[in-house]
Amino acid sequence: MIVLQNVSRTYGQGSAAVHALREVSVSIEAGSFVTVVGASGSGKSTLLNLIGALDHPTSGHILLAGRDIYGLDDDARTRLRRDTIGFVFQFFNLLPTLTALENVALSARLSGQGGREVTRRATALLERVGLAARAHHKPEQLSGGEMQRVAIARALMMDPPVLLADEPTGNLDSDTGKSILALLRGATSERRTVVLVTHDPQLAAQGDRTLTMADGRLARDERSKLAS
Ligand SMILES: Nc1ncnc2c1ncn2[C@@H]1O[C@H](COP(=O)(O)OP(=O)(O)O)[C@@H](O)[C@H]1O
Ligand SMILES: [Mg+2]
Repeated sequence: MIVLQNVSRTYGQGSAAVHALREVSVSIEAGSFVTVVGASGSGKSTLLNLIGALDHPTSGHILLAGRDIYGLDDDARTRLRRDTIGFVFQFFNLLPTLTALENVALSARLSGQGGREVTRRATALLERVGLAARAHHKPEQLSGGEMQRVAIARALMMDPPVLLADEPTGNLDSDTGKSILALLRGATSERRTVVLVTHDPQLAAQGDRTLTMADGRLARDERSKLAS
């Protein structure tokens, strides 16, 4: 589903150059739950942003469902991102003026869908993350865990085959983090591919596979003994 071929990303130039990723190659199967760990600054977010078509590699290729995403023009890449990727972030990134339901529905409305069908799907997703009773609340009226559940519902709204989460539990207590992890893991039951960056070794151990980043390199690639 996701293939990286010798991907490097360097920020800045000359003596100020930062080698955020160095020659990373990895293939991630459709439907797998992959966790990414590593020290702060080791390149985890850079890796996720490149997979999510939000950045450009300095060299190398990234294929999503067989398509070289940085070989596409900007419009095609934007469409691919919209149709293929759901993002979940550490600080939720909900729009503060919209209700939970409106936040979830927004991507569908922006892509021209409208009416009751969008509301029905957004409501069903809020139910699935256990927040039906909070549909008309604004983010500031929700706890951190609730905001993250809204963000997961939002990420699933366009039914993307790939879900990327960058330290989604980093701002939550550990019990809330576990429930967020269960929701993300559950998303793979629909053949969705989930890549989760986390600092928490206990959460990371629940991946089918764990990638460890160190100084921009893929330092370890371990498959879970629990995975079939
Ligand atoms: N936009 C940027 N400009 C310059 N340096 C950056 C930028 N983004 C990340 N970096 C640097 O790249 C390295 C990897 O960063 P990042 O991928 O965010 O690491 P992690 O998510 O593992 O903490 C770090 O040294 C960071 O300072
Ligand atoms: Mg990061």
